Amino acid sequence: MTLKITTICENKVMKEELMGEHGLSFLIEYKGKRFLLDTGSGLTFRHNAEKLQLDLSSLDGIIISHGHFDHTGGLKDVLEAAGPLKVYAHPGIFDAKYKVIAGKDELQYIGIPFSRQELEELGASFSLSRGPVEIVKGLTLSGEITRQDPKEGYEESFVKKIGEKIEHDPLLDDQAVIIDLPQGAVVVMGCAHSGPLNIVKQVLAGGDVARVAAVIGGLHLFRSDENRIKQTVASLAELGVNYISPCHCTGFKAEAAFLQVFGSRFQPNSVGVSLDLEKFSP
Ligand SMILES: [Fe+2]
Ligand SMILES: [Fe+2]
Repeated sequence: MTLKITTICENKVMKEELMGEHGLSFLIEYKGKRFLLDTGSGLTFRHNAEKLQLDLSSLDGIIISHGHFDHTGGLKDVLEAAGPLKVYAHPGIFDAKYKVIAGKDELQYIGIPFSRQELEELGASFSLSRGPVEIVKGLTLSGEITRQDPKEGYEESFVKKIGEKIEHDPLLDDQAVIIDLPQGAVVVMGCAHSGPLNIVKQVLAGGDVARVAAVIGGLHLFRSDENRIKQTVASLAELGVNYISPCHCTGFKAEAAFLQVFGSRFQPNSVGVSLDLEKFSP
């Protein structure tokens, strides 16, 4: 098997003994290498990894899709279980990220719940880059995504603190993982704050990828209106995405819309699901 992606933390759970949470973590196994993409919020990682009997001692690294707590809160548990590891991410993951609470003049902290130093003391060695990074041959972290459509994924309520100043957080740290397979690229998204269409378009525009065979992960459509959902689903199909497995912040309405259009090429994703991507050739 060239590529297997196992969901360790996710919002939905359909298997006994596993637990759901608002967070995301995938184990990506590709050509003998093993990477975690995100670590969930810290609530369920340890439990689910143990129940799924995952060997964390042989990980080759951790990739962080962006700095929100629901993707980084399990970092401490992972490092404690796995030992020293390289952590690949954008430097913006350490921004002081907040959410404006609707109707109140309050900010809620939604960034990494640990300091960089704390994580380094546990063995994290950060490899931070704004541009694309090929982590191993055929597996690339996208780098910053250009917002061709600035409204896609945009959330007014996301802000960051710089000293005493508060400004909108455009989440430039949001990245996707692009994995080469003979049938095309598999694009794995954390929360897709930069917009699933913006991401896929950038992947295709890069010139190295002829087709996107699959999109997997959080597509952040749970607060989107029907038009945005319809447009995203139709455009991903038009762009040639063959296979889709959305989860986390995609939302029920959007998942239902994907199922309608993609039919048997839609794979429901929940905690404990292992996707063997080779089965889904065009
Ligand atoms: Fe997020
Ligand atoms: Fe998220």
